[in-house]
Amino acid sequence: MTTATARACANIAFIKYWGDRDAALRIPSNGSISMNLEGLYTHTEVRFSPELKKDTLTINAFPISGPGLARVNTLLDRVRQMAGMRLCAQVTSQNNFPVGAGLASSASAFAALSLAASAAAGLQLSERELSRLARTGSGSACRSVPGGFVEWQAGESDADSFAFSIAPPDHWALADCIAIVSQAHKFTGSTEGHARAHTSPLHLARQAEVPRLLVECRRAILERDFETLAVFTELDCHLMHAVMMTSSPPLLYWQPATLSVMQAVHAWRKRGLPVCYTIDAGPNVHVICERGVAHRVSAQLVEIPGVSQVLVASPGGPARLEIR
Ligand code: DP6
Repeated sequence: MTTATARACANIAFIKYWGDRDAALRIPSNGSISMNLEGLYTHTEVRFSPELKKDTLTINAFPISGPGLARVNTLLDRVRQMAGMRLCAQVTSQNNFPVGAGLASSASAFAALSLAASAAAGLQLSERELSRLARTGSGSACRSVPGGFVEWQAGESDADSFAFSIAPPDHWALADCIAIVSQAHKFTGSTEGHARAHTSPLHLARQAEVPRLLVECRRAILERDFETLAVFTELDCHLMHAVMMTSSPPLLYWQPATLSVMQAVHAWRKRGLPVCYTIDAGPNVHVICERGVAHRVSAQLVEIPGVSQVLVASPGGPARLEIR
């Protein structure tokens, strides 16, 4: 096969990846746990051809060059090395995320690219091998390879740093109501942020806590214990943002509306609603709730000044090849 198309969904981490032990291979400082997000997809086609003189990349029909292409090029080099081939590739990618929503797409993008490129190169990688390959493109992408609720074991080397499912998508009817907060300017991307984590005096304190957070989060998912999930998801969100804010130079991703949503969620939980939040490297707030209340939660979220729209996603499946 020289052409293949794959689809992968984004994911949201309850216990976060922040900081690397090995930045080049993206071996993380700590393990993480996430949920795939059904409906937030990247579709990627990879075509290897002797007619191409170099690798090309288009995302949502726009040709991409510079660092974006270089990152894809590095992953394709790995695939070529594994397959023992030298052909260049045409990579055509589409995200179905709303444009301008400020949602990160590197997890779904590198999971879809790894599957499409390896299949197009004639490789049949196991889920673990694919997760390791995706990790080298974008750390969180290794968690978009398996389905449902996923844990990335940090490991110590390329061989033992990969993600696996801890429960299938239908294990727990949760929803992620993503409150999109208007953003005036660009912020520092995660790759640069990971490199700064070590400059924070709080980084090692967070690292010392993470093993306990992983145990509690894993147990909360397996037992469908929302209250425990809420407590530890918010704790790690606060710990990670404390590391970000105390890095040199500091990273402050929140906007005023980010804080408004956080406070509203606390008020709703106090009144008995099964709801909590987490925030990645940006101002948007992922409001996690039980699916039964997702409609109500998203209706309340859009009423908060500064929230421009709300996307609702349920637990998603694994990365898949698309047969045409
Ligand atoms: C805050 O996986 O986006 O979303 O490997 O540089 O692409 P790169 O970083 P990335 O980092 C994710 C950071 C996070 C937390 C998480 O998803 O675990």
